Amino acid sequence: MRAVDARVAVFASGSGTNLQALLDDPVAGPWVVLVVSDRPDAYALERAQARGVETVVVEPRYHPDRAAFDRATLEVLREHGIEYVALAGFMRILGPELVRAYPGRILNIHPALLPSFPGAHGVRDALEWGVKVTGVTVHLVDEEMDHGPIVAQEAVPVLEGDDRDSLEPRIHEAEHRIYPKAVRALVEGRLKVEGRIVRVLEERTDE
Ligand code: GRF
Repeated sequence: MRAVDARVAVFASGSGTNLQALLDDPVAGPWVVLVVSDRPDAYALERAQARGVETVVVEPRYHPDRAAFDRATLEVLREHGIEYVALAGFMRILGPELVRAYPGRILNIHPALLPSFPGAHGVRDALEWGVKVTGVTVHLVDEEMDHGPIVAQEAVPVLEGDDRDSLEPRIHEAEHRIYPKAVRALVEGRLKVEGRIVRVLEERTDE
């Protein structure tokens, strides 16, 4: 029996395949109690609703600036007793107030091997650069974009003739493998962070 229980919010702006991977994970799935989106039409919201997970949309256009948007989001997290946040295709940068409210408790997944190709177009930028290997990165979120300490990475080879349509599904497969593991490690207190270096302790098997 696992003693760990947790309240995790997943933030998503789009399709939500990473959200789905988290929901489908036997350990991390039950921890996901809230999905937050900045877009009312995000398919991720339907995925959450299909599982009976609560959803909240915080739309930037109803807030005068980023700080106000952040405060509104933070209030939602507090109302739901959220302890950890997993960003999964959330296309907005979290402001300092939000990041500081959850020190070392926010993860992001990025579709490239950071620090290469940060930003909103990691897959496209890697292809255009002509790299032979790209991949995915899970990192802790700090106040800079795609910058915090790296928790996990998986390399994905770029094949001859690859374009976004052929490469992206392989990037997603890697994401769906490593993200649930990283969320489990975070929540189970198995991430040991010293500066930029993150050690991931082994999962205990004696429970
Ligand atoms: C993923 O590639 C993730 O790395 C990036 O946004 C994409 C979201 O995909 N941050 P999905 O919505 O989880 O399918």
